[in-house]
Amino acid sequence: MWPDHRIQDLFGIELPIIQAPMAGSVGSEMVVAVSEAGGLGSLPCAMLSPEQMRNEFGIIRQRTSRPINLNFFCHQPPQANPAGEGAWKQRLESYYIELGLDPQAPIPAAARAPFDSTMCDLVEEFTPEVVSFHFGLPERALLDRVRAAGAKIISSATTVDEARWLADQGCDAIITQGYEAGGHRGVFLTNDISTQAGTMALVPQVVDAVTVPVIAAGGIADARGLVAALALGASAVQIGTAYLYCPEAKVSEVHRDALKRAKDNDTVLTNVFTGRPARGLVNRIVREVGPMSEIAPQFPLASGAVTPLRTKAEATGSGDFSPLWSGQAAALGREVPASELTQQLAMGALAILSRLGSADTTA
Ligand SMILES: Cc1cc2nc3c(=O)[nH]c(=O)nc-3n(C[C@H](O)[C@H](O)[C@H](O)COP(=O)(O)O)c2cc1C
Repeated sequence: MWPDHRIQDLFGIELPIIQAPMAGSVGSEMVVAVSEAGGLGSLPCAMLSPEQMRNEFGIIRQRTSRPINLNFFCHQPPQANPAGEGAWKQRLESYYIELGLDPQAPIPAAARAPFDSTMCDLVEEFTPEVVSFHFGLPERALLDRVRAAGAKIISSATTVDEARWLADQGCDAIITQGYEAGGHRGVFLTNDISTQAGTMALVPQVVDAVTVPVIAAGGIADARGLVAALALGASAVQIGTAYLYCPEAKVSEVHRDALKRAKDNDTVLTNVFTGRPARGLVNRIVREVGPMSEIAPQFPLASGAVTPLRTKAEATGSGDFSPLWSGQAAALGREVPASELTQQLAMGALAILSRLGSADTTA
């Protein structure tokens, strides 16, 4: 059986498996599939309008009564910086010309919004069992409202200091996100990504530093990774990239194709898509403009000028300008439905645990 039941008991779920919220890539279909399979389905809300959130949440509650997680970003809203955005646009101008786009066209609005009072109203209306945050926590008054709505609160830490800070603010569990993880680093107390620890090193240090349960994230893509995380002292795992291979994932054709070809050393941390470091597969814009650009505007503004390039290129089947988010364990991914993946992870892990449990310790 599972060595540690704390997360299952806390959230009311059967399996120590959380499907990572992945803004832009996960919708209600995946959330329902994972929660019905006994894990915790997570709906990313950072790129949804209130109307879209209401719609997605309505579908989820129609199809499952099991616990689910709503996820939000809580970055500082960026200061308007026309000069910086202009310089960024100029850096990308040659690509606009190459693709036949008008470099003088207004920059589209960036699509990622931080948690605010309107989103909090929706949390109060929906009463999800779990609310998770990325990039720290919202202000105290909003956090108190989320708690009063009955949700368990969790957030990502990328260092022991961040984990302690989140625990001090009253988080019910800490997602410990290692360097291997796909997508944005959850960093919020430091800007230095060069020193971020990997999951193997970070998880046991966070486990030692806090008393609340720890959820390991980053580079976990199969049953072996799940068991390893439990051995490090985590009570559960949060898995992202492996769920991108599922048919329920809302990933573009170019992204899906790139994931299918991904190797262990194909990913990099880059800020060229949004202004914040995030892990994805290397493509043309990452190679030529990044991976880390000094002039990428503050998160999420950098995405504005990249979006028309992405849209135009994808229309011709090219992923040259698309964020191909992926963690380092992408090559372990398999194209199976999300419910099957969740079950395979759980059954595979239990089989390994039972094999390990029967090891002869007298030798
Ligand atoms: C495509 C993609 C989008 C992501 N978007 C979010 C998000 O919206 N909110 C969030 O808290 N984490 C997000 N993450 C990070 C995940 O929560 C998690 O830390 C990560 O996927 C774990 O590493 P793995 O991809 O190796 O499993 C995203 C990750 C990926 C791959």
